[in-house]
Amino acid sequence: MEIRGNKLYIGAFAAERLARRYGTPLYVYDAETIRRQYQKLTASVPYSPVGYFYACKANTNPVLLEMFRRLGAGLETVSRGEVLAGLRAGFRPDQILFTCSNMTEAELDFLIAQGICANLDSLSQLQRWGLRKGAPHVSLRVNLGIGLGPHRHVVTGGGDSKFGIHAGQFDQARAIAARHGLRIVGLQQHIGSNILDHRGMLRAVEALLRVARQFPNLEFVDFGGGFGVPYRPEERPFAVRQWGRSMARMFRAFCAAYGRPLRMVFEPGRYLVAEAGILLVTVTDIKTTPERTFVGVDSGFNHLARPALYGAYHMVVNASRVHGRTARVTVAGNICESGDLFAANRPLPPTRVGDVLAILNAGAYGFSMSSNYNSRPRPAEVLVSRNRARLIREREAWE
Ligand SMILES: Cc1ncc(COP(=O)(O)O)c(C=O)c1O
Repeated sequence: MEIRGNKLYIGAFAAERLARRYGTPLYVYDAETIRRQYQKLTASVPYSPVGYFYACKANTNPVLLEMFRRLGAGLETVSRGEVLAGLRAGFRPDQILFTCSNMTEAELDFLIAQGICANLDSLSQLQRWGLRKGAPHVSLRVNLGIGLGPHRHVVTGGGDSKFGIHAGQFDQARAIAARHGLRIVGLQQHIGSNILDHRGMLRAVEALLRVARQFPNLEFVDFGGGFGVPYRPEERPFAVRQWGRSMARMFRAFCAAYGRPLRMVFEPGRYLVAEAGILLVTVTDIKTTPERTFVGVDSGFNHLARPALYGAYHMVVNASRVHGRTARVTVAGNICESGDLFAANRPLPPTRVGDVLAILNAGAYGFSMSSNYNSRPRPAEVLVSRNRARLIREREAWE
């Protein structure tokens, strides 16, 4: 992104021009940013073998899935729909991982028939997988009581979390595996999302490596995703290089004690796509009350749920006039709920009806969490790659 002549540009394109050409609300992704983030992460861990499985719940656009496949990533999935999207994007079954709580019988059958490796989330899943006799290699998602993240809804470890098999259940897990002739070849831990504290993440890694010694047949250890990006202006980026060096050092020491080299696995979602995405919206109404000025736009939490769901902060830029004397306004969506606010009491330059606003860092958990609430169609998606812009999902139509 760049500011030229007081206008916001994405690659070679003024945001206003994209808004005119494709309409708003519009998700715009920058391919260079995705590539840069992938390279930054993969270059940071000086260890081999290592696999990066893009957690596509963050953004499941088929063009982005293909892009990740070409970059050399695998795919981390959570549903049959995501697996099918991955297969259609050209991933082989052995390049796909699956992790989900509350699996149905049909889902278990599907994964075994497709030959997909699953991180099993409960003793019941392990037992039901074993009864099927179709796939002797399994991985376990563990919960070692450690969770991190900026909001309790994105913390996925600890006693309050629904995820994973607890350390007190490991003996039972080994017994179930032995009874059904299953080999536990992987251990996975995913402690939360949008974590900026790399030291906290490393403490969770230490805990996982301590328990990994109790599982003699491992082929890989999967450290999950959760790498954060700065959403607020005062936040610092995740210290990816320091983290990566420590990871490699700790894992090498672990493998030496374990007796053989294992594969390291990561499942990044947000880190790869969040900063690449912008949601462009048009100002349709400006209203003042005795308390506030509301800038009303043609989108809402049906298109970007994070502010309403987690109280998440997204920077908002007036793409039509980036600079100017600012006044505090509240950017409100058009959904019939009082909580439908993109930003509350934010300084924005003078804003007029017809201006295009850019809601930043919207590439992860934006479109993939969108809905038709209030019977509104979902936005189109555009991918910008330097001087090329391409429609990668058509705007939804009522038909
Ligand atoms: C099992 C698992 N792996 C990876 C991820 C990706 O997390 P993030 O986008 O924070 O990297 C998630 C997110 O919910 C997850 O549940």
